[in-house]
Amino acid sequence: MNNSWLGLEGKTAIVTGGASGIGKAVVQEFLDNGVNVVVGDMSSNVPNFEIGENSGKVLYIKTDVTDFNSVSEMVAKAKESFGGIDILVNNAGINIPRLLVDDNDPKGKYELDEYIFDKIVNVNQKGAFFCAQAVARELVKKGSGVIINMSSESGLEGSEGQSIYAATKNAVNSFTRSWAKELGKKGIRVVGIAPGILEATGLRTIEYETALAYTRGITVENLREGYSKTSTTPLGRSGKLTEVADLVCYVASDRASYIHGVTYNIAGGKTRG
Ligand SMILES: NC(=O)c1ccc[n+]([C@@H]2O[C@H](COP(=O)([O-])OP(=O)(O)OC[C@H]3O[C@@H](n4cnc5c(N)ncnc54)[C@H](O)[C@@H]3O)[C@@H](O)[C@H]2O)c1
Repeated sequence: MNNSWLGLEGKTAIVTGGASGIGKAVVQEFLDNGVNVVVGDMSSNVPNFEIGENSGKVLYIKTDVTDFNSVSEMVAKAKESFGGIDILVNNAGINIPRLLVDDNDPKGKYELDEYIFDKIVNVNQKGAFFCAQAVARELVKKGSGVIINMSSESGLEGSEGQSIYAATKNAVNSFTRSWAKELGKKGIRVVGIAPGILEATGLRTIEYETALAYTRGITVENLREGYSKTSTTPLGRSGKLTEVADLVCYVASDRASYIHGVTYNIAGGKTRG
C-alpha cells in the first residue's frame, strides 16, 4: 500500500554510478522510500546500504555504462529480478580537469588531449545514451516511467579548467530536452538535475583538486576555501548529498508529474539556474 507522501513504494529504479557519492546517497534514499534498486556501477567495491523493515531491495550489477552489452545485460537482469523498471537515474560520471591550452608547461601537462576528451565523453555522454535507450525501450512498452539525468551546474554555466566535462553536461541537458519531446507523448518524463559544489565524493581526489587548482592558477588550499565562500556559493556552504538525493526522489515520484524536459539547478545560488 502506498501511504507515504512520495508514494514510491514498490517501484524499481536503476541508478548508475550508485557505488559512491551522489549515486550512493540516491540509492539509500530510494531504499528508504521502499523502492527496489539496481545499482549499475563498474566499481568492485560494493557499498553497504542500510536496509530497514520497509526498505526496498537492492541488487548490485557490475556494469560499465560505456559498454553497450554490459548496459543491455544490466537492464535485462533488472527486469528479470524485479519484474520491470520504473525509474532510471543516469548518474555515472567522471571529471578530469584540463585546459584548452596549457602554455605554462612545455609538455602541456594539463592540456586537454584526445584521450581525455574521449574518456569523458564516453562515460558522461555515450553512457547516458546507452542507458537511456535500453531503459526507454522497456518504459515505452508500458507507457510510463521517469528518466533522470545527472548534469552539473557547470553544464549550464561553463567552467574554467573543465571545458570538456561541462560540454558533456550541456549535452546531457540537451538530451533531457530532446528526449522529453520524444518520450513525453509515450507517458515517460525526462528531467535533469544540475548540482553545484557538494560535500566531497569519489570525484574529489587530490589529483582532481591539483589539476583544477592548476588550471585556475590557484593553490589547492585556495580551491578548498572556495567550497564554502559566499562569493562562490551564496549559501556559504557545500551542498549535502542527501539534498540532491531528496530532489531525485521528488522528481522520480508522481508528485512531480508535470515536471518534464527541464534541468533543475541545485547549487546554493552559485548560478542563475
Ligand atoms: N560531486 C559533485 O560536486 C558533482 C557536482 C555536479 C555533478 N556531479 C555529477 O554527479 C554524478 C556522480 O558524481 P559523484 O560526485 O557522486 O562521483 P563519484 O566518483 O563519487 O561517483 C561516480 C560513480 O560512477 C562510477 N562510474 C564511473 N565510470 C563508470 C562507468 N563507465 N560505468 C559505470 N559506473 C561508472 C564510479 O565507479 C563511481 O562509483 C556525476 O555524473 C557527476 O558528474 C557531481
